[in-house]
Amino acid sequence: YAGEGEVGNQEIESLIESLPKIPFLRKFHCYKYDGFWYVENHLRAVLSCKKHFRFQDSDILLASFPKCGTTWLKAIVYTIVNRQRYPIGSDDHPLLTNNPHALVHYFEIDLYGNNDVPDLSNMHAPRLFATHASALSLGDEVKNKSGCKIIYICRNPKDCFVSLWHFLPKLRAVEAATTVSLDELFDSFCSGVNAYGPFWDHVLEHWKVSLAMPEKVMFLSYEQIIEQPDHYVKKIAEFLGCPFSGVEEDERVVNGIVKMCSFTHLSQLEANKSGRTQRGARHDTLFRCGVIGDSNNLLSSDMINKIDQITQDKFSPYGLKI
Ligand code: A3P
Repeated sequence: YAGEGEVGNQEIESLIESLPKIPFLRKFHCYKYDGFWYVENHLRAVLSCKKHFRFQDSDILLASFPKCGTTWLKAIVYTIVNRQRYPIGSDDHPLLTNNPHALVHYFEIDLYGNNDVPDLSNMHAPRLFATHASALSLGDEVKNKSGCKIIYICRNPKDCFVSLWHFLPKLRAVEAATTVSLDELFDSFCSGVNAYGPFWDHVLEHWKVSLAMPEKVMFLSYEQIIEQPDHYVKKIAEFLGCPFSGVEEDERVVNGIVKMCSFTHLSQLEANKSGRTQRGARHDTLFRCGVIGDSNNLLSSDMINKIDQITQDKFSPYGLKI
């Protein structure tokens, strides 16, 4: 008996077989789907999610290119939407004992990875999910049918790249792979052939839809939040339809969230100093230095000029400055 899942899996496998495929980091391949490159297991999970997952109007999806501040965004949004259940400052707040990735799961890494079709029936509304895939690749209903909200976080591509460079060798799957040089990774980042790339297309796709549907997609940058954290915590709460009340303002709840989710606070919690995420990243590697401009310490001036030029060429026609 071939159940529905098995037939579905065959469809997914045939689709993957038919896609353009390029070697990546020597050990892997990237497949091009819907304009973006994916490693095989992420792609399989994205396709499975697209097939099985149904958005509810109250769902919230956090979308990002890897290393753009996802961990931080997960912590902030989780804390904002759960602040009635888990008041800021309470001793049993889940963020004190869980890595943010254990509180908000990625579709393609956690939920639909390993050929799983998860049972999500016990999740409280609003359900929080995350993805590094282009949110719009997850199906038409994300954009057109459901009322779910998307928050996208981007980051300066030079800092994103440098963060990736430090992080990749720490992933269990990559640990076993041949080491890759900075130049090789840089070339793959700039050419766009890397997991979830091209970076610039990923950012632009979400930027455009945030302009067309501002009530649906909120577009943020890591740099904006670093510079004005209180302001953006408030903006996020307003966007999600749960603004801070006058009483909360008086009790400085916004600033409590900023402090609770700060790099300094999260990185010193035991839950973030030990253990690994489901995809095998050591929790402490998710908190490296958390500053703007660290790329200047690693990239040559040629590299900086190259990324700046690509960014200028890709973003300026759309009025996007990062
Ligand atoms: P650096 O490597 O530049 O330090 P992601 O969560 O998408 O993987 O992004 C990781 C980047 O976000 C890392 O950047 C990490 O240090 C930074 N980061 C993690 N938690 C943060 C926080 N609470 N505040 C600011 N930056 C944070």
